[in-house]
Amino acid sequence: MESVFRTYGQGQNTVTVLRSINFDVMAGEIVSLVGKSGSGKSTLLHLAGIMDYPTAGEVYIEKKVTSNLAPKQRAEIRRNSIGFVFQFFHLLPQLSVFENISLPQLMKGANNIEDRTNELLEVVGMSSHASRFPGELSGGEMQRVAVARAVANKPRLILADEPTGNLDKDSGQVVLDLLMRSARMYDSALLLVTHDSETARLCDRVITIEEGTLSAH
Ligand SMILES: Nc1ncnc2c1ncn2[C@@H]1O[C@H](COP(=O)(O)OP(=O)(O)OP(=O)(O)O)[C@@H](O)[C@H]1O
Ligand SMILES: [Mg+2]
Repeated sequence: MESVFRTYGQGQNTVTVLRSINFDVMAGEIVSLVGKSGSGKSTLLHLAGIMDYPTAGEVYIEKKVTSNLAPKQRAEIRRNSIGFVFQFFHLLPQLSVFENISLPQLMKGANNIEDRTNELLEVVGMSSHASRFPGELSGGEMQRVAVARAVANKPRLILADEPTGNLDKDSGQVVLDLLMRSARMYDSALLLVTHDSETARLCDRVITIEEGTLSAH
């Protein structure tokens, strides 16, 4: 990100959430983003995942400018190169657990989709729930499925918005291991939002967001 601003609202109601953010995550790097509720963590992640446009500044993916790309090209980058774990999961309610994890692979035209999906179900301990629908899962189970879906395509960039927020210690560890292992194994960049200092300690770098700006420590 280069000189990225993001404001919401207009006129007197304008709120500047991000002000002149300069920030990179390199391939193979695991970075955690911490900050108070409302500080702009999700906003920053959505911009990094090119799901949103900065008010000013530029977001680069693999050194390429993204603001001038057509929506279709942006969607293609998201599909092929980015895995996103949303804060509120966004599983597709009409699709089973198995289908939710398979979908990004189908969209990418991947091979061995069934094997890869079964492998991920096993890793996150959801094999026995493969044919259930999201509405039949607990919050933590949805979260595990969302993480499996995000890494299914071995993306170059994994963005995870509080991926362990709803999980007990053991399940949280499983999810975190999967994200970190996926990043290390495929030399992907991993940027994850966390409130947990223990999780942050396991990362290569910790970035804090406060009053619209970032600081490293
Ligand atoms: N669409 C929007 N319109 C107006 N304001 C918004 C919008 N989305 C977010 N905001 C505001 O921007 C600020 C940052 O929101 P954001 O969701 O990025 O925070 P966060 O750090 O992810 O918080 P949390 O830890 O609670 O998830 C908040 O003050 C929020 O109210
Ligand atoms: Mg958030």
